[in-house]
Amino acid sequence: MNDNHAIDYARYDHIRPIRWTGDALELLDQRKLPFVVEHVLCSDSDAVAAAIHALTVRGAPAIGIAAAWGVVLAARGLDAGDGAAALQALEPAMARLNAARPTAVNLAWALARMRGVLAAAGSDWKQVLALEAQAIADEDLAANRHMGERGAGLIAPGSGVLTHCNTGSLATAGFGTALGVIRAGVAQGRIARVFAGETRPWLQGARLTVWELQQDGIDATLVADSAASHLMKTGAVQWVVVGADRICANGDTANKIGTYQLAIAARHHGVKFMVVAPSSTVDMGTAHGDAIEIEQRDPGELFGVGGVRTVAEGIQAWNPVFDVTPGSLIDAIVTEKGVILDPDVAAMRAAFGG
Ligand code: MRU
Repeated sequence: MNDNHAIDYARYDHIRPIRWTGDALELLDQRKLPFVVEHVLCSDSDAVAAAIHALTVRGAPAIGIAAAWGVVLAARGLDAGDGAAALQALEPAMARLNAARPTAVNLAWALARMRGVLAAAGSDWKQVLALEAQAIADEDLAANRHMGERGAGLIAPGSGVLTHCNTGSLATAGFGTALGVIRAGVAQGRIARVFAGETRPWLQGARLTVWELQQDGIDATLVADSAASHLMKTGAVQWVVVGADRICANGDTANKIGTYQLAIAARHHGVKFMVVAPSSTVDMGTAHGDAIEIEQRDPGELFGVGGVRTVAEGIQAWNPVFDVTPGSLIDAIVTEKGVILDPDVAAMRAAFGG
């Protein structure tokens, strides 16, 4: 094991999904990876909102960061004497950004931060907005690195892990949440085997996660989502490590559809279940998971693979893209503010107040 050595971030973190050019936002187009590496340039806030909705940029922290830069873009060309005046004028653009996706709280959280600094800003409000967007991104990267080490510390040497969706550099400012823990765990020699579920219907695991790990030289084994229980039964994995889109005041956690069934299967097989997310994903204002709006997407996403139709015409489909894992099925929530074991109302309140 190698946990006394600092993690070589240059080796374990190559990809950046979001780049601010100084006057536009450049997004790595996650709809096209892994075979086409292409960027989309957004020059106004509605283009950012459209990119968030279309999953050009995705992953809870990444959409919060993109939305913050979207506010900076909305401010271009706006004439206002101070932040309070600008805030009123920018509200419609911020409301459109906020409506782009409903489940990940990081989007509303980032916009609330932008509103907060704007309300207090003077005549230099445009500069204040740009500094805040950059701070949101920088803090996310720092949180991920911190969580990586904390989460990896829970994993016994020689363990296997299963992850779901994509929670890596692609989904954040860099390094990733659950994937950050996996990177740190591999770097420290704790994690011996990494499995990634395909994550139907959008295939974030198959298209993004295994590709992203490959850039770091981390071998990951792809499994069909439906292979997860069987995999656990073989004894090959000791932890399921996932990200989050919203963590409620009682520890209930919304994440990519399929996470809930992984948590049930993990409990059945004695496999531990870890949620890794920055405190920007914690929503102490939502009491429990039933109060979370679950995004429903176009049922057409289920009718084919890679643009090729596989389902007969005239079939109906239901396509919720997130589910809620009860806090009682979670062994550890890892944030940059601390690790919450066996989360419940009291443990969450002790960690996050409210
Ligand atoms: O629909 P997506 O791809 O945006 O869903 C992403 C997830 O569910 C992730 O697990 C979550 O946002 C955490 S990303 C660090």
